[in-house]
Amino acid sequence: MKFIWVLKLKLDNELRESIEEFIISHNATITSLDSENKSNILQPKSYDTSAFFIKKPSNIFIKKLLLDFKIKPKTIILKKIKIKDIYKNNITPLNPITIGRFTFLESKNLTNFNIYKNVIIPPGLGFGTGHHASTKGILYLLNKIYFKKNIKNNNLIDIGCGSGILGITMAKLWKKKVELIDIDKQAINTSVSNAKLNFLDSFINVKIENGLNKTNKLNYDIIVINILAKPILTNIKSISKKLDKNGRVIISGLIQDQKFMILNKLRLMGLILEMEYKIENWVSLLIKKN
Ligand SMILES: C[S@@+](CC[C@H](N)C(=O)[O-])C[C@H]1O[C@@H](n2cnc3c(N)ncnc32)[C@H](O)[C@@H]1O
Repeated sequence: MKFIWVLKLKLDNELRESIEEFIISHNATITSLDSENKSNILQPKSYDTSAFFIKKPSNIFIKKLLLDFKIKPKTIILKKIKIKDIYKNNITPLNPITIGRFTFLESKNLTNFNIYKNVIIPPGLGFGTGHHASTKGILYLLNKIYFKKNIKNNNLIDIGCGSGILGITMAKLWKKKVELIDIDKQAINTSVSNAKLNFLDSFINVKIENGLNKTNKLNYDIIVINILAKPILTNIKSISKKLDKNGRVIISGLIQDQKFMILNKLRLMGLILEMEYKIENWVSLLIKKN
């Protein structure tokens, strides 16, 4: 297969999920990037979306898309492109970013790939390239706890794995198996493929699930969870229950105003704040279970 069909659209946040769902149900994969700065922020106002089809999408599909979602024909472009040109033509390159011990790159071609120092995360196909403050915060805190001597690292889990960036980083840091969970099928596929790209497929166990409802193990030494405040609240009891004594959870995806609400609930369950990392208005919290 040398060619692929790419449908380009500009989507408002309001209808994005339903339009993406409709397109995915027609066997496409989708990349939606924030149209203003292209560095996958959490809730951008508008997106540059590219949908990739193996076969040319039918006229009926295009008509339905335009009519059902009131999309103006002039705003969409359908192109046949060479597979090797996908990244060249569709995604603005992200700069490599260094956080702690690792430099995160979007492809192995950018520099001389060094398996000990680099993590490869191509942009777009699952949230998390390392450029968003909520991801950066967890990566920073993971590097901090890596140097702490009394923290166990046998049972590790990444909830809301997106691109798999956090789970892959944990596997690289501790050379241990990591469980990755997401509710989104595309995130699961992306995490699996990114694990392979980083030669870590045998360390990464990915599955589709909702939060910590059904995990492989009863207890974890380190939990990382970068989902928004509401799903974090839904999972807060499970976090407390599944975190081992002296274990750590790193919570991200919170804005400054939501911090105390989460910390108060955690404190009632015996979980206390050990360190926090703030970038822009986003906070990441390192929490310890006494
Ligand atoms: C902000 S992204 C984080 C991605 C990556 N872990 C990072 O830190 O960059 C949030 C991810 O959590 C997933 N998610 C949201 N609610 C969830 C839930 N209840 N259970 C599991 N995953 C969830 C989303 O599908 C998305 O992939």
